[in-house]
Amino acid sequence: MSEKAILAYSGGLDTSVAIKWIAEKYGFDVVAVAIDVGSEKNYPSIRQRALDVGAVKSLVIDAREQFVKDYVFPALQANALYEGEYPLATALARPLIANLLVDIAHQEGATAIAHGCTGKGNDQVRFDVSINTLDSDLKIIAPAREWGMTREEEISYAKEHGIATPVTMESPYSIDENLWGKSIECGVLEDPWAEPPEDIYELTRSPSDAPGVPLYITISFDKGIPTALDGKEMDGVSLIEQLNESAGMHGVGRIDNMENRLVGIKSREIYEAPAAVVLIKTHRVLEDMVLSRNQLRFKERLSQEYADLIYDGLWFSSLRDDLAAFVTSSQRFVTGTVMMKLHKGNCIVAGRKSPYSLYDVRLATYDEGDVFDQSASPGFIHIWGLPSRTQRRVQLQ
Ligand code: ARG
Repeated sequence: MSEKAILAYSGGLDTSVAIKWIAEKYGFDVVAVAIDVGSEKNYPSIRQRALDVGAVKSLVIDAREQFVKDYVFPALQANALYEGEYPLATALARPLIANLLVDIAHQEGATAIAHGCTGKGNDQVRFDVSINTLDSDLKIIAPAREWGMTREEEISYAKEHGIATPVTMESPYSIDENLWGKSIECGVLEDPWAEPPEDIYELTRSPSDAPGVPLYITISFDKGIPTALDGKEMDGVSLIEQLNESAGMHGVGRIDNMENRLVGIKSREIYEAPAAVVLIKTHRVLEDMVLSRNQLRFKERLSQEYADLIYDGLWFSSLRDDLAAFVTSSQRFVTGTVMMKLHKGNCIVAGRKSPYSLYDVRLATYDEGDVFDQSASPGFIHIWGLPSRTQRRVQLQ
């Protein structure tokens, strides 16, 4: 009996060719697994395509709920943005997919896991590190990294092996999409001076074509988890879907980042992440009201650490567990509601409220009702001003 490999299958040319290539090169039976983390794809037809190409079994798994609950929301609670810009949609889905593939490998008695990543990106590292952490006995096969075929050679390989290639040329872009956002690379985007063509955007309207009338929305959080949109309670998947819709319509969520890949390459990345951008901003607005100054400062630093760790594929690491424990603790009073105005690509805070607010109007006011003891302030001048004054004096000497 042949050994089995579990392949992360997308339905595209690379992973379709991979089914045949793995069977030919390694003599493995291939089980194709397509995992739905919220990209608009025709999963029944993807499932069938894998069988047509020669997979011995083809599965489709709807992992949207688990993705949101176990990966997206913990990252949101941490305000994780890689290099201050990228909400990490692709990076967050990789450990989830790896985990499911390892589970299926165990169920199917497979000895290998295969993925379609090339050797130049971050995704190969995320898959390899996660799979290896979860079960180091599993072999990892990465056909696109190993076969060394050009695009043309791949297409002729497909033709020779009776794999249907799309009539129209596949998109010149490399695209990955899930509920938390869409990543777009390659093609004309490789020229960092070229403005992205309007037609690459699918989730967001151009801010100039967005409605002239702003949309006000409210988002409610319970311990840092968004639970209601405009006062209506809903599950995480629906909330993100609806927010992608409305924020996208108002042109919110386009990102153009010169990104530092973990393999040492700088890369120009375009993202569309309407819901992620709005939710992270909104969550921070609420935190500003309920966390102390020191908690906020510390969390800011932790956020960056956490984002790097997610980006680098270290989701299943001890440090991630520790950071997550801190984040969970920090969220115990992050409950309340934020009002945002979406308008022509902007997402602007309009109001916030919380039963745990640390804002005290009696201390902040310049009007009547002030209870702040202003005679205490000279002491503060001393504390904050003295060190730099002393340093400046030393410098002048
Ligand atoms: N640069 C992003 C990241 O590393 C996006 C990767 C997109 N992946 C893809 N296969 N197109 O997370």
